[in-house]
Amino acid sequence: MERTLSIIKPDGVKKNLIGEVIKRFQDQGITVAAIKMMQLTQKQAEGFYAVHKERPFFNSLTDFMTSGPIVVMVLEGEDVIARNRKLMGATNFKEADEGTIRRDFATDIEQNVVHGSDAPETAAFEIGYFFNSMEIVG
Ligand code: CMP
Repeated sequence: MERTLSIIKPDGVKKNLIGEVIKRFQDQGITVAAIKMMQLTQKQAEGFYAVHKERPFFNSLTDFMTSGPIVVMVLEGEDVIARNRKLMGATNFKEADEGTIRRDFATDIEQNVVHGSDAPETAAFEIGYFFNSMEIVG
């Protein structure tokens, strides 16, 4: 069993996609092991996306990520890091496969509805950023 961090971003929450996104995970047998809704501070968003701090889109990204509530989840399942990324589709919705979350709902490379950890090391960091062990079931 593997774990990954999933975020429904402010645009996904505003578009009322919380249920739709979770349904897509659960339909694939992926389990929600922890979940909470919150609004990030600028500092929290900067810390989460620290690996991107030299990128030209960093300020815009952290502004967007603090612009409204998000839903953060720990997902659990076999090979869940890769499977979640497959369900999300490419970062740029224009390059995302048909039937993926981003292809179906994203309107912008930045406002791309969901985030998912890209590797075991990032998943460990990102899960620990939002949850302590007592908040994760299983
Ligand atoms: P995410 O998977 O959360 O990882 C970093 C985020 O930065 C990405 O989704 C987008 O929201 C945003 N992002 C990535 N690349 C770009 C880009 N070229 N322009 C603007 N935003 C980007």
